[in-house]
Amino acid sequence: MRTTVGIIGAGPAGLLLARLLHRTGIDCVVLESRTRAYVERRQRAGMLEQGTVDALRECGAGGRLDAEGMVHHGIELRFEGERHHIDFPGLTGGRTVTIYAQTEIVKDLVALQLADGPTLLFEAEALAVEGPETASPVVRFAHEGNERTLRCDWVVGCDGGHGVARAAFPAGTGRSYAYDHPYSWLGVLADVPPSCEELVYARGTTGFALHSMRSPSVSRLYLQVPNGTDAGDWPDERIWDELAARFEVAGDWRLERGPVTAKSVTPMRSWVHEPMRHGRLLLAGDAAHIVPPTGAKGLNLAVSDVRILARAFAGLHRTGSTELLDRYSRTALERVWQATRFSYDMTRMLHAHPHEDAFERRLQLARLRRITESRSAAAELAANYTGLPLAPRPREAAESRR
Ligand code: APR
Ligand code: PHB
Repeated sequence: MRTTVGIIGAGPAGLLLARLLHRTGIDCVVLESRTRAYVERRQRAGMLEQGTVDALRECGAGGRLDAEGMVHHGIELRFEGERHHIDFPGLTGGRTVTIYAQTEIVKDLVALQLADGPTLLFEAEALAVEGPETASPVVRFAHEGNERTLRCDWVVGCDGGHGVARAAFPAGTGRSYAYDHPYSWLGVLADVPPSCEELVYARGTTGFALHSMRSPSVSRLYLQVPNGTDAGDWPDERIWDELAARFEVAGDWRLERGPVTAKSVTPMRSWVHEPMRHGRLLLAGDAAHIVPPTGAKGLNLAVSDVRILARAFAGLHRTGSTELLDRYSRTALERVWQATRFSYDMTRMLHAHPHEDAFERRLQLARLRRITESRSAAAELAANYTGLPLAPRPREAAESRR
C-alpha cells in the first residue's frame, strides 16, 4: 500500500486529521489496532472547547453534535460548603463550552470516514515505523493474519499513550517530561439525570469530586481515590455516599442517585514528549502528551494538534513548502505546555494531597477564594478552560510590537 500521509490510530486525533486532510484533497490511510465496536465504546472525556466544536463542524461532523451537544455557560466551584458560579461568556467575551461524549465524536467520525473515505482499517496493528529520516517512511502492520507495509510521504502517530510511533524516535533525539500525581480518579457512569445544570468541581474535605453529564438522563461523576485503587472495592452505595459528602453544600441541593453502569480508575499523570516530530514522523494527541483530566484538556489538545497539522499539510499541498510542517512541533508545544500548566494548577488546587499539611490546605483555599473574589483571576481560569488561541502570536511579531 502507498499513501501521502499514513496515520496510526483511530482515536479522535487520527480520525479528525484524516477528515481534515481528505477535505483538502490530501490522500491518507488510517490504521487502527482495535475493532470498530471497541473504539466506539471506550468511555473517555466529554467537554469540548469552542475550537473543537468548530473543527468538528468544519469537517462535516457537526450534525449530531449540534442536535445533542449541551452548551454550557460556565462551571461551578464548590468548597467550604459554598457554591460559586464562574460565568464564561461574561469573563471571556462570549465563549462557551459544549458537553458531547468523545465516544459519540468517534462514532460520528468513523461513520463519515466509512461513507466516503479515506481508507480506515480496523484490526490493523502498526508494528513499527521504519525510516522516518528517509523521503518515504514505511509503517509495518499486521492485518487479517498477514504482515503488510504502508509506504508514506509522511507518518503521523495518533496512537495514544501506549503506541509504537514514539518508539521510532532514535535514542537521544527526544526527551520526555513527566509528573505522576499521587492520586487517581474513579470515574462512574450512572443512569440518573444530572443533579446540576453545570459541571461542578468540588474540593471536599476528604478530596476532590467532579459532577459532569452525558445527556439529560445520564450523569458522569468522578471521585479522587488513592493510586492503586481497585474499582471493585467501591460498591455503588459507597460511591454515592462519598460523592454526596464531597458535594455537600448549605441549602437544599441534593445529589440524585441511580444505577451505576460503568466504573473505572484512571491515574493522574502529566507527561510531554519533545519534540513532536522526527524527520517525516509527527506525533499528535495522547501519543505526545498526557494531562490530568481536571482541566478537561486531553481531547481538546488532541484536536488542536491535528488542526495545526492539517493546516501545515494544506500549506505543503498548496505551495510545496514545508515551512509550516517545520514549525509544527514548536507551535503545538507552546499550546501543550499552557494546557499542561493549567491542568496541573487545577489539579493541585482541588485535590487533597496524601501528605498535605495544614499550610498547603490554606494555600488551596486562598487560591479558590482569589478566583471567586477577583474578576481577573476568574477571567484567567475562564480563558484557559474555554481554550487558548490555536497558535500563539509569532514571537518575532510580538517582540517588534513592544
Ligand atoms: N496500531 C494501530 N492503532 C493503535 C496502535 C497501533 N500500534 N496503538 C494504539 N492504537 C490506537 C488505539 O487503539 C486508539 O484507538 O490509537 C488510538 C489512540 O486513540 P486515543 O487514545 O483516543 O488518543 P487520541 O486520538 O490522541 O485522543 C486523545 O483520548 O484518552 C483520551 O484524554 C484523552 O481525550 C483525549 C483523547
Ligand atoms: C467529563 O465529562 O468526562 C469530564 C468533564 C470535565 C473534566 C473531566 C472530564 O474536567
